[in-house]
Amino acid sequence: MGVSALFHDASIAMIEDDQILFAGHSERYGAKVKLDQDLNPELVKNALQYGSPDELVWYENHWKKRRRQVYAGEYKQAFSLDSFPKKYLKKHGLSFKNTPLSTFDHHYSHACAGYYTSPFKDAVIVVIDAIGEWDTITIWEAKDQKITKLHSTRYPHSLGLLYTAFTVNIGLKPLHEEYITMGMAGYGEPVYYEQIRDKYVEWMGNGEFKLKMNVHKGVDFKPKQDTAQSMYDIAASIQALTEDALFNIMRCAQRKTKSKNLVFMGGVALNCKANSTISNLWDNIWIMPSPGDSGNSLGAALAKRNEWVEWKTSFLGYNIDRPYPVKDIVYELSKNKICGVANGRAEFGPRALGHRSLLADPRGPGIKDRVNTIKKRQKFRPFAPAILEEHVHDYFDMPKGVEVSPYMQFTAQCKKPHLFPAIIHVDGSSRVQTVGKNDSPGFRALLEEWYRVTECPMLLNTSLNIRGKPMVNDEKDAEDWEKEYNVKVY
Ligand SMILES: [Fe+2]
Repeated sequence: MGVSALFHDASIAMIEDDQILFAGHSERYGAKVKLDQDLNPELVKNALQYGSPDELVWYENHWKKRRRQVYAGEYKQAFSLDSFPKKYLKKHGLSFKNTPLSTFDHHYSHACAGYYTSPFKDAVIVVIDAIGEWDTITIWEAKDQKITKLHSTRYPHSLGLLYTAFTVNIGLKPLHEEYITMGMAGYGEPVYYEQIRDKYVEWMGNGEFKLKMNVHKGVDFKPKQDTAQSMYDIAASIQALTEDALFNIMRCAQRKTKSKNLVFMGGVALNCKANSTISNLWDNIWIMPSPGDSGNSLGAALAKRNEWVEWKTSFLGYNIDRPYPVKDIVYELSKNKICGVANGRAEFGPRALGHRSLLADPRGPGIKDRVNTIKKRQKFRPFAPAILEEHVHDYFDMPKGVEVSPYMQFTAQCKKPHLFPAIIHVDGSSRVQTVGKNDSPGFRALLEEWYRVTECPMLLNTSLNIRGKPMVNDEKDAEDWEKEYNVKVY
């Protein structure tokens, strides 16, 4: 059993030999606190249904973390007695007789989560996040099962923290709403790029990323005018700067190894817009669907195993065991209705991929506003398309080197944007999910039936959640959601 907790998006993963038995996010259980940093008792209960662990693995080195916290002035966290992994796990019902506990470094857990779920024998692993212990950017060589660190950028120099600081600067929530910053970037122009770079960034070439000041507690950047457009322009500027820094880091990683396979991990790997700008540098890319800290529960378990597991699916969480009612959903959708689906095992990772989704016909005007009204979110935000894999190139210009995108990790330009306004961002891009024959059988069958009836191979797919709450998890959540919004959930 691997555990990640006490920072944000706590999770548990269970593996046995080369199989992943379970992986779930704490936020989706019990109190349903978005990106919950603590282990929820319901999550623990669900995980233990898959067996009692004979090894416990913690996802970071808490001694190193405490030293960094002292350095960062976070004394309360640094001297907390409750955050000793053994004590913390015991408090949450994870204490077992004769079960040893091991710990691994934060970035090493990220690296293992990526490499040991990847299909690659050799790879270069790049990990970029906000902060763990000290590492913020690491490059690793992975060969024949062995992972060796080649490069490390350390706190306070952090690309992830800089992005988070600007997320706060434009009025959003740190470590929660970076994806909104990315969406807002489409509405702006990077007019502050040079100003931000010159004020905060010392160097971002040759894989090094150095900051002129510590941005952990925020930045005091002020645009010329305090308008909504300025906020969009700041978002566009920090996004462009991130993309350029990322490109430089990737070029450096290329020079360090001969491998053409990239494993990309850490919270920054959730930036699908940036991911699309580096895809042409590699022959193959693997980003585990939960590349942020929640994925480190699996990473820690894999660090202990030190070997690949068989990666079959990201549907690894709570199981709503009932048939996927393909015909009923297609019937509803063909009547121009919106409907929810809560079926099978929940997604591990932040994206709803057809098991905890709100679905609609993506064609024609008005649908975006209708779904946005249900979800009560900003009108400008688009939704994502889920498309039968074999049709993706007819509708989208996929980034170079990206044939399929089953986990919504890249953006692509739509070739027929006028036909699908609900799933197109203002810059003409879409965060595409391709659904292949080996992905969810239920969701695949639904898309096939939808295509047979309508000749449209895609659906609008957004997460099934009550505003401000995490995704629906179990049967009761699905019922509550249905009552709250008066929209049928299958
Ligand atoms: Fe991390």
